[in-house]
Amino acid sequence: MRTDIVELVRLEDYRPSDFLIDRVELDVRLHPTATRVTATLSLRPNPAGRSDVPLVLDGDELNLKTVALDERVLEAGEFEASPQSLVISQPPQQPFRLTIETEINPTANTKLMGLYRSGGNYCTQCEAEGFRRITYFLDRPDVLAVYTTRIEAEREEAPVLLGNGNLVESGAIEGTGRHYAVWHDPFPKPSYLFALVGGRLGRVAKPFTTMTGRQVEIAVYVEPGKEHRADYALDALGRSMIWDEKVFGREYDLDVFNIVAVSDFNMGAMENKGLNIFNDKYVLASPETATDTDYANIEAIIAHEYFHNWSGNRVTCRDWFQLCLKEGLTVFRDQEFSSDERSRPVHRIAEVKTLRARQFLEDSSPLAHPVRPTQYREINNFYTATVYEKGAEIVRMLKTVIGDEDFRRGMDLYFERCDGTAATVEDFLKAFADVTGRDLSHFSRWYAQSGTPRVSVHGHYDETAKTYRLDFKQQTPPTPGQPTKEPMVIPVALGLVSQNGQPMDADCERVNARGVFILDKAEDSITFTGVSSRPVPSVFRGFSAPVKVSLDLSSEELLVLLRHDTDSFNRWQAAQTVAMRTLVSLSTSVAVRDEEMNSLASAFRSFMDTDALSDPAFAALVLTLPSEADIAQEIGKDVDPDAIHRARKEMRRHIGRACFEHLMDFYRSLAETEAYSPDAASAGRRALRNAALDLLTAADQEAGEKLASEQFETASNMTDRLASLGVLMTIPGMVRENAIASFEQRYRNEPLVLDKWFTLQAAIPEDTTLDRVKRLMEHPAFSINNPNRVRSLIGSFAMLNQVQFNRKDGAGYALLASIVLRADELNPQLASRLLTAFSTWTMMESTRRSHARRALQSIAQKPNLSRDVGDIVNRSLEESAAS
Ligand code: PHE
Ligand code: ZN
Repeated sequence: MRTDIVELVRLEDYRPSDFLIDRVELDVRLHPTATRVTATLSLRPNPAGRSDVPLVLDGDELNLKTVALDERVLEAGEFEASPQSLVISQPPQQPFRLTIETEINPTANTKLMGLYRSGGNYCTQCEAEGFRRITYFLDRPDVLAVYTTRIEAEREEAPVLLGNGNLVESGAIEGTGRHYAVWHDPFPKPSYLFALVGGRLGRVAKPFTTMTGRQVEIAVYVEPGKEHRADYALDALGRSMIWDEKVFGREYDLDVFNIVAVSDFNMGAMENKGLNIFNDKYVLASPETATDTDYANIEAIIAHEYFHNWSGNRVTCRDWFQLCLKEGLTVFRDQEFSSDERSRPVHRIAEVKTLRARQFLEDSSPLAHPVRPTQYREINNFYTATVYEKGAEIVRMLKTVIGDEDFRRGMDLYFERCDGTAATVEDFLKAFADVTGRDLSHFSRWYAQSGTPRVSVHGHYDETAKTYRLDFKQQTPPTPGQPTKEPMVIPVALGLVSQNGQPMDADCERVNARGVFILDKAEDSITFTGVSSRPVPSVFRGFSAPVKVSLDLSSEELLVLLRHDTDSFNRWQAAQTVAMRTLVSLSTSVAVRDEEMNSLASAFRSFMDTDALSDPAFAALVLTLPSEADIAQEIGKDVDPDAIHRARKEMRRHIGRACFEHLMDFYRSLAETEAYSPDAASAGRRALRNAALDLLTAADQEAGEKLASEQFETASNMTDRLASLGVLMTIPGMVRENAIASFEQRYRNEPLVLDKWFTLQAAIPEDTTLDRVKRLMEHPAFSINNPNRVRSLIGSFAMLNQVQFNRKDGAGYALLASIVLRADELNPQLASRLLTAFSTWTMMESTRRSHARRALQSIAQKPNLSRDVGDIVNRSLEESAAS
């Protein structure tokens, strides 16, 4: 199929299904290449749908064996079947049963959608449209059915058989080596939440008692022998369940909750009802194999999938345009969980760093789209930072606007009112409008308007009147399909700080009791009275809105905030802003005065003297300069990645030299003597120590190499070992090459650790990396079929290695293009995700831009592209988008 004729799906075309399915009985006989699926569907015409229309069931690469209507086998002519659909032109006008037998080949399924095999086990992935690869169905989220699943397999091959809901029956099939299990899920659900697993799996489990005293068995299944590496995930699951009861009043509803880790998975994890399936990267952890970041990610994703049980499963989405209804809300919920379990300010900074790196980038690229898109060609391409991360920011802003108590009341009403239904963003907002009596229609523009609003803030102090006025202006740049923009509702959390760092309480009637001013016009001003001296404004505290802010503050004033603001986020932001100004000047050959370089260095020194050690995790964030990608985004056009790389290196060297003694002190004093623990405080100490090592090395390569080598040899945990290897990667030579070889030797049987090894090498900012990457693609541990491997080598090269992916000779782009095409034949989702690395192409200088355009065109011209890749490549090339 030509990519340019793929049909657009439009939100405005939504209409209810003409038929409903009340019950689904599935019988799945697992076989490596010929799995038989018998589905018995209890259908009826939908009173809200059209009458006298054919029944059209979705399929995808299906092979129909038989179909029967109310137990009568249909003959050719009574139905029309193709791999893509099964049509019954004259279905009954009353309830009826359709029995459909299909045969599928899980071993040949390289797309990892539908039923497939991973590490010899059988598993499924149905979101968004994978169920239609198992049987013909009304594969849309607003068709909710009660499922009973019988799974049968060779006991040898698949001793463990898992399904959604509760186990109701299991046993041997006499006289054969086969056995079976029957699972029943009493909660009506859409097909995308269906799952089954069959295989050889080890298990860790424990009982959980819910808030009303119900007994639940919670379990994590992993590759046999790796059970101990699932302990942390199981613990995180228990904590998530307690937290959701306490903070949202949400209780678990089945007798069991199972998590299965698989090594071939397109995404992070999936919230199938009662049977979450995870990329094993987000389950398996031991101090020797996982970093602090891995532990934090495991905790967050375990929580995320669990929280979906209410925000996604009990209340699901009417259609895929409403994806943010479950994803944005659930990301918000998992962020709150991590903030409560760890350090709130530190976590907030981490969230904002990802939001800016991924979502702001997307919003300024040809792929920009609203949090609730209005059209798509391929829904898989809309599991984006915008839907997830910006979607979460909208929920957070809603909470900021209406306050904590009303937010909780609104959530309760939403869950109560929409339980068991497929809802919309309107249903969600209505719950909050109803509990507060507010009109949220203007606020709802956040779901519809794409692009990152820019807000400028100017302060005016009136010495005689003792007043301080803040002038706000907002404006959102054009994005694809949206040339003009309307003003948004922007909550601005703010406060004033005196020049010597004291909080000032001045009055302003426009600022509410929670310290928030709502900017909802293109321009607005607010005035504080009783302001005794010229203040330093601290605006967008806690990053109260996902906007880009320009502030007319001097570096001296920003450094007052770094030292004294009561808002930790803005302390960090102040240091970043000062650093960014210098980095942009250095990268665009604007002369930089020595004082400018020195002011940040001396601010860092006094920060290290005074309070860095009181919160090492925070200090590590402060001492980490904006990334090369951040700087590129800030510059925004005609970007020269080489100049940015040099600038950042120079500044790190400068700061490292100016703070050398302090950094060395930190490095020595923070050395851990206790056994490894993944808790946030210990992780924070490691983060600060490793940030110090990085700056030390930038200042003095020889000294750094010595420290890093020693740390690499003696590290007692993966966090420290990997951090030191990362530092060694910046120094060409034999020490580095030997370390690479010894790491490989040590972890040759640990796929998840080898992923890190691939990543570090792909990120080396040297000309020889391109050949290294090509060589590594031939490494026995590399496989184009395994998404984790491909992302760790190729994804990292394209996303982390700014200078080498964006080589001036275009070779980086050409390499990615060729791999995208290869991957597309096996796994279109994986290929299209890799391809999104091109989303920065329009901001590059002209030589790189034309190389990138050519690489994109070479993909676009290829016949038989998947819908996934075709959609991304076409949108990336649309000229109007190059805003
Ligand atoms: N719904 C999953 C999550 O965010 C993500 C996912 C989407 C997984 C599509 C697989 C396929 O929790
Ligand atoms: Zn999710």
